[in-house]
Amino acid sequence: GLRKKEVNVLCLGLDNSGKTTIINQLKPANTQAQDIVPTIGFNIEKFKTSSLSFTVFDMSGQGKYRNLWEHYYKDSHAIIFHEDIRNKKIPVLFFANKMDLKDAMSSNKITQTLCLGNIQDKPWHICASNAIKGEGLQEGLDWLQGQIK
Ligand code: GTP
Ligand code: MG
Repeated sequence: GLRKKEVNVLCLGLDNSGKTTIINQLKPANTQAQDIVPTIGFNIEKFKTSSLSFTVFDMSGQGKYRNLWEHYYKDSHAIIFHEDIRNKKIPVLFFANKMDLKDAMSSNKITQTLCLGNIQDKPWHICASNAIKGEGLQEGLDWLQGQIK
């Protein structure tokens, strides 16, 4: 059959924000990890959708590893989740994760607080998510797919 288009995605954000949990939920059930531990350096994860073959660089958010992030921008087709997205024109998907927590900010409030409306040089989208239940993740992935095709 037709080969799926290969897409590299960089997943960035603070430590403990739920990046690995989000990526884990996007993988097929039989390849999902049961226990998620803080990422050391980064992990490379792969999964497919109907039209795309994703390779995700799931970066550690810990301060001592954040210097690794910049080395992976150049090979990426999209970015998930990062506050300093510099001058690349590639699409950025923000997950406002842990929306199940009582004091979670709404995605509208986050958009205002981070002035995401100022981002006009690249497509971006924000989704509220609960990575433990998998809520909101498909919406984000659908948007990303639409940007890349
Ligand atoms: P680093 O690898 O250290 O950068 O962290 P990370 O961003 O990959 O976070 P990780 O996926 O390891 O999740 C950290 C903790 O948050 C884990 O205990 C998760 O179970 C929890 N968590 C992730 N997503 C959610 C969510 O949507 N809601 C709640 N309540 N907890 C979550
Ligand atoms: Mg992680």
